[in-house]
Amino acid sequence: MVSGRFSRSMMLFEEANRYVAGGVHSNFRYREPHPIYFSRARGSRIWDVDGNEYIDCVINMGACILGHGYPKVVDAVKDALDYGLTVGLEPDIGVEVSKQLSRMIPSAESVRFSNTGTEAVMHAIHIARGFTGRYKIAKLEGGYNGWYDYVLVSSHPSIDKAGPPDEPVPIPESAGLARGVAENVVIIPFNNIEATERIISNHRDELAAIIVEPVMFNSGCILPREGYLEFLRKITREHGIVLIFDEVITGFRSAPGGAQEYFGVTPDLSVFGKAIANGFALSAVVGKREVMESVHPKRGKVAYAGTYNSNYISLAAARVVLEELRDGKVQKYLHEAGAKLAKMFSEMIEELNIKARIQHFAGKFQVYFTDREVVDYRSALACDSRKYSVFQESMLNSRIYMLPFHTIHHGVTLAHTEHDLESISSAMRRALKEVKDRFAG
Ligand SMILES: Cc1ncc(COP(=O)(O)O)c(C=O)c1O
Repeated sequence: MVSGRFSRSMMLFEEANRYVAGGVHSNFRYREPHPIYFSRARGSRIWDVDGNEYIDCVINMGACILGHGYPKVVDAVKDALDYGLTVGLEPDIGVEVSKQLSRMIPSAESVRFSNTGTEAVMHAIHIARGFTGRYKIAKLEGGYNGWYDYVLVSSHPSIDKAGPPDEPVPIPESAGLARGVAENVVIIPFNNIEATERIISNHRDELAAIIVEPVMFNSGCILPREGYLEFLRKITREHGIVLIFDEVITGFRSAPGGAQEYFGVTPDLSVFGKAIANGFALSAVVGKREVMESVHPKRGKVAYAGTYNSNYISLAAARVVLEELRDGKVQKYLHEAGAKLAKMFSEMIEELNIKARIQHFAGKFQVYFTDREVVDYRSALACDSRKYSVFQESMLNSRIYMLPFHTIHHGVTLAHTEHDLESISSAMRRALKEVKDRFAG
């Protein structure tokens, strides 16, 4: 990082350290030698506190789908301020937005709101446990489903601790998690039907739920192999396990009804967040009525509460966002934008003769330095991270904001224009040349 360009960020980091542990309010934002502090965002652009302008390919970890400060959403939120935030009663708009979700998402017979993806995942797991009377949870190695104890396991484990690829060992990702997490979480390898079948069968009578990101963005951008999601649907149905799709990122990018519509596989429960309100704090647990009835205040046994649940501001944003996403035009644009970027990238690597690939889905992408298809966490981890660092640093110097981790995702929004895509592509060409010069191929 060129420090002169980031002098205010550096100063702010020094000051932040006096008041904020590590200078950041989310550990993902921490960078050496200092984080970048942002001051403004609009459309496809962000500006840092030093006035540097970037084309944003992080888009708040996928939360923005329409672009920063989308005017109709901003207007709706401004209007909503006159109504109050929450009063401890249900707002009428909650019914309207639930109806919108129900009409869009195949599995959404019933809806409950919460505020963050993590909260929605916690609720979904409580519901699955309450519904089945079982306790264990299965999740993907390399999958991130938020910071609830029972999913903050084997998100990005170190390979020397993670056990055999077809029998991954659960590795807690943090100190301070609930006791028994490792004994009660079962880790499955994405896209490996044989291993998944064996692991699930071994725990079939104890498993309350399997939670999966239908496209594993938290190891970059890894698509499900043909038949994998269908297989999960089949095996969970056979063993009475609740299938939870974590659509916090796939939600609304893949199709108006999420990845479940796109891939034609309907889970029992799903969680949505991020794009649902174009980045305003809103999430939802949706699912089959029979399962969701577990939180019914009279008939169910599972607790569900939250002071800020269904607050007017977030729902006002969501109402507009869902209206924009309903007819599939935004998703079409995103799929095409991702495909264009991927085409330009593939031509470059061919021309420059570099071992690299771009994997993309619905306008999200990741660049991997490898000549093999990335199909799971381990194949993502095996890619050349030193080359990726040179690539990312060069992208940043070209004012394209990407993250310094090769096992994480990037993307574009409706606000990214053709011209933005060309700028990203030109920056990629420079970055690939730098990688080639530095590593001689
Ligand atoms: C797939 C997935 N699920 C859940 C979460 C947690 O969402 P939140 O950060 O809103 O708690 C994330 C966050 O990045 C995510 O990527």
